[in-house]
Amino acid sequence: MNPIAQELNDIIKTSNPYIFEMLSDMGKALFFPKGILTQSAEAKQKAGRINATIGIAKEGGHVLSLSSITRYLPGIDPDEYLPYAPSYGIPELRKKWKTELFKKNPSLKNKKSSLPVVTSGITHGISILSDMWIDKNDVIILPDMFWGNYSLTFCVRNSARIVHYSAYDDKLTRFNIESFEKMIREQAKLNDKIITVLNFPHNPTGYSLSKLEIKQIADILIDIAQKGTKVVVGCDDAYFGLFFEDETSKESIFSILAGADKRIVALKIDGATKEDYAWGLRIGFVTYGVHSDNDMVFEALEKKTAGCIRGNISNASHLSQTLLLKSMADENYETYKKEKFELLKNRAHKMREVLKNPKYKGAFDVYPFNSGYFMCIRLKDVNAEQLRLHLLDHYGTGLISMGDKNIRIAFSCLEINDVEPLFDIVLSGINDLRKG
Ligand SMILES: Cc1ncc(COP(=O)(O)O)c(C=O)c1O
Repeated sequence: MNPIAQELNDIIKTSNPYIFEMLSDMGKALFFPKGILTQSAEAKQKAGRINATIGIAKEGGHVLSLSSITRYLPGIDPDEYLPYAPSYGIPELRKKWKTELFKKNPSLKNKKSSLPVVTSGITHGISILSDMWIDKNDVIILPDMFWGNYSLTFCVRNSARIVHYSAYDDKLTRFNIESFEKMIREQAKLNDKIITVLNFPHNPTGYSLSKLEIKQIADILIDIAQKGTKVVVGCDDAYFGLFFEDETSKESIFSILAGADKRIVALKIDGATKEDYAWGLRIGFVTYGVHSDNDMVFEALEKKTAGCIRGNISNASHLSQTLLLKSMADENYETYKKEKFELLKNRAHKMREVLKNPKYKGAFDVYPFNSGYFMCIRLKDVNAEQLRLHLLDHYGTGLISMGDKNIRIAFSCLEINDVEPLFDIVLSGINDLRKG
């Protein structure tokens, strides 16, 4: 074990030994190297005369640049985006994201969390969760409907075992808390440590939890933790903030789980991707909420996370981080966000209104949805993939089939006037297939 990793492990162990036990083998071995990076950081502060430490090129005290690149970004100084960003992310952005996170989740008041560490998109954050907290054959508890990329990240890359609960009751009216509880308690009996990912607003169904459901889920996880099972909870908050109905909690379950028990490690994984409509910028964040009497544990976890990034992509795009930081500092940031929120909310409401029409009842059921980008329908008697292909070939309409029965519709990219025509096309397609 590298001595720096050992040092971090000692800090974590003395702060809360359960956190150390929960780390994967890779998590235990990770550290942030001192070598060139630390020496460069020291030189940045003290080497006022000559600084020949970092692997970038400079000219006249500024970063060397090609105008064939910089001319496209006249509003930003090349020094703000061409040099490397730190593996942790730009400090101002990390602080700003944390301040906003506490504002958006008032239940975090008086709680502690790490500073967010910047990742190259949310997928990368999920993959860090996987690397740092999942060993081969660890069990990860997910709903039966989930974002397909989890399989690649958790199973293919890190050899986890997925077990499923049913996400919704049979009538598709609500989150299936009974099924969640049964699976969590069953797995808690079989394993010292379990992992679960809570993704609300949910991909693919567009469901978000009520305050009561959040409390019920948190109570179950806290209860098994108190009874001795270690629990790693990833809160995949990719669509955070896009809550369109009054009954939905406007906070992440992270704010309840952070620090709730010494055997719970909560990770908030979020980012600009969907929240700030900046998919291609690839900026995500990983933030830790744990129970500890010693705040040094947060820094130790940040260091391990930055080490995980350093050994993989080294650091996330400096340009993207600078753009996000500038956007968040813009006096109209909130107004711009509200405008886009209203646009998506109106689409979601239009979907609800259109789907009230009884003509669709015999053809499909609708999964509960109240947030995010998507909604799903469950087909009564035709195959989802056959319908998808039929709609593509005969109606020029593209949707996503999931399993035999489910179709996912991204209302996030649907103009309001296309909502009713879309469902009529789906109905026509179903009727075509029924006729054979
Ligand atoms: C639930 C969920 N998590 C994570 C992501 C990935 O986000 P990113 O594009 O930032 O990697 C997505 C994207 O579709 C998603 O639906």
